[in-house]
Amino acid sequence: MRIRILGSGAGGGFPQWNCNCANCRAVRAGEPGFSARTQSSLAVSANGRDWVLFNASPDLRQQIAASPALAPSEQDGVRASPIKAVVVTNGDVDHVAGLLNLREAQPFTVHGARRVLDVLAANKIFNVLAPAYVAREELLLGASLAIHGAGVDLGLSVEAFPVAGKIALWLEDAFAANYGSAEGDTLGLKITETASAKSFFYIPGCAGLDAGLAARLAGAELVMFDGTLWHENEMIEQGLLGKTGTRMGHINMSGADGSIEAFSKLDVARKIFVHINNSNPVLNAFSPERAEAEAAGWEIGEDGMEIAL
Ligand code: MLT
Ligand code: MN
Ligand code: ZN
Repeated sequence: MRIRILGSGAGGGFPQWNCNCANCRAVRAGEPGFSARTQSSLAVSANGRDWVLFNASPDLRQQIAASPALAPSEQDGVRASPIKAVVVTNGDVDHVAGLLNLREAQPFTVHGARRVLDVLAANKIFNVLAPAYVAREELLLGASLAIHGAGVDLGLSVEAFPVAGKIALWLEDAFAANYGSAEGDTLGLKITETASAKSFFYIPGCAGLDAGLAARLAGAELVMFDGTLWHENEMIEQGLLGKTGTRMGHINMSGADGSIEAFSKLDVARKIFVHINNSNPVLNAFSPERAEAEAAGWEIGEDGMEIAL
């Protein structure tokens, strides 16, 4: 199975268009230790020819252009794409807006939780994915689904499970409990290659690791995990946004309640942070926070990073 990180940044990317924080200034200036990141997405292939996208970011056009494997090949017809399916983990702008890049009457399948499919159905702009070409299939929680699209069995299955989190920011209801969130608004995925039975976890958004999630991840070969923030209050301390990580629906990396500590007991062979926000000090390759994460066995995801499993 081939896994390619198309985008390792969180919503807004790195640098973010309107952000003048120290990290965004440094990456714009080309300072050593900083690399730009597009928004959160992954591509996976079992056969090296047909690909499944996991989340579709607003930067998808640029990500496809940077990934030769995602272009039509010479022997294809005049309209073709190796992208045969898209699986979305939530309704966040950084995870669904890229679907709009996939218009132009090309067959593929979109898989998402019922809650997210309902949001796509309610927003007519997504009708650019014409129903005659683009199937929409529900991901049932706790069940394993064989991924197929455009008539091709993609040799991958996906098990979706709910993780701690909340409804997408743009769908929040200020007057409802937990802003109107319900089960299925934030999914973790276990992605398995059918032929080899090799698997990994993709969890780009997660507000906390409870005992159930910890048990599920224990002993995994690879986990790609929510790396949004280093510290619960970093957005507030940097004057960027008056919200804690908890309020944003993201666990922080550091501290007694952070992901680094939680994973230290889980015996996961390879751990990669993805969905990294531009405020996170680990984006500086020479920072003490980067050193601390790496010393704990974490890799900091980069755009274009490829993993063979
Ligand atoms: C998030 O991950 O919290 C969202 O992508 C935030 C946003 O929509 O900007
Ligand atoms: Mn996001
Ligand atoms: Zn910034």
